[in-house]
Amino acid sequence: MKNFLSVNDAGNIDHLVKTALNFKRNPLASQTLGKNKRIGLMFLNPSMRTRLSTQIAAQNLGMEAIVFNAGQDGWSLEFEEGAVMNGSTVEHVKDAAPILGKYFDVLGVRTFPSLKNKEADYSEKILEQFVKYAGIPVVSLESATLYPLQSLSDVITISERLPLQGKEKPKVVMTWSPHVKPLPQCVANSFSQWMNAWGAADFIIANPAGYNLNKEFTDAAIVTNDQAYALKDADFVYVKNWSSYHDYGKIIPVENNWMLTSEKLSVTNNAKVMHCLPVRRNIELSDEVLDSENSIVTEEAGNRVWAAQAVLNEILNALV
Ligand code: CP
Repeated sequence: MKNFLSVNDAGNIDHLVKTALNFKRNPLASQTLGKNKRIGLMFLNPSMRTRLSTQIAAQNLGMEAIVFNAGQDGWSLEFEEGAVMNGSTVEHVKDAAPILGKYFDVLGVRTFPSLKNKEADYSEKILEQFVKYAGIPVVSLESATLYPLQSLSDVITISERLPLQGKEKPKVVMTWSPHVKPLPQCVANSFSQWMNAWGAADFIIANPAGYNLNKEFTDAAIVTNDQAYALKDADFVYVKNWSSYHDYGKIIPVENNWMLTSEKLSVTNNAKVMHCLPVRRNIELSDEVLDSENSIVTEEAGNRVWAAQAVLNEILNALV
């Protein structure tokens, strides 16, 4: 594995999941693999789970991890080619990224979308420039349109509970949920992309009219505006808000309440409920669901360590 930017870099997903679950059983199985290697974790946006789980994963592999909260502590970066930098940006990515390439063996980058310029966001302009100019393997810690580390953790979390008795494939539903702020589409795009590539689940997406995702990521999924229909007999329900892709970055008012409740869950096959976190309680997901035995959100976040460790393991093996 050279970079980890999307499911296209994952290789065999089941192999990656197996590696992750082996690390879950034995975290220090490859504790010298990353000896004398260093990963830089560059955050242009806030994080709790990704920052901590990736540090722990690197440490388990004997790697040193250095966090750089660039969005908060770093120079303001310029990403436009040919920019006349007479405004607020101080350093061009063309100058900064090669230096990170000298300091580190692997670079992790978190960068959110603008939600204003669809073309720029969907070209992954920022992440791609780090890949281009750093000259070392880059791991996406969440980018403008995708979030492969989260999706790998999600697939690990589902896989751990398989097979389900009497079912060849689980039914996995991703349902849109309300939010007070416009959020990126990246978690939903990525989960859909991984479900389609994995192929080991019957996958359906429920969202209100106006919230269909970019078809590029949902091509093999069933998409419906009927949440109750989607939830029927579901084994896993993945709850996530995203802002409109078509009316880019906007919150479009919806008629019904899309928040998942215990009553709505009653038509499922006692489904396990997932969410990438952080979650707005009683907006995105009700207390009663989050505090119930159906919720596996903590387990899912715990698996972030093993997802990151499996990915770094592949990258380190390709480095040596
Ligand atoms: N799920 C997730 O990315 O959490 P953080 O933003 O806390 O890293």
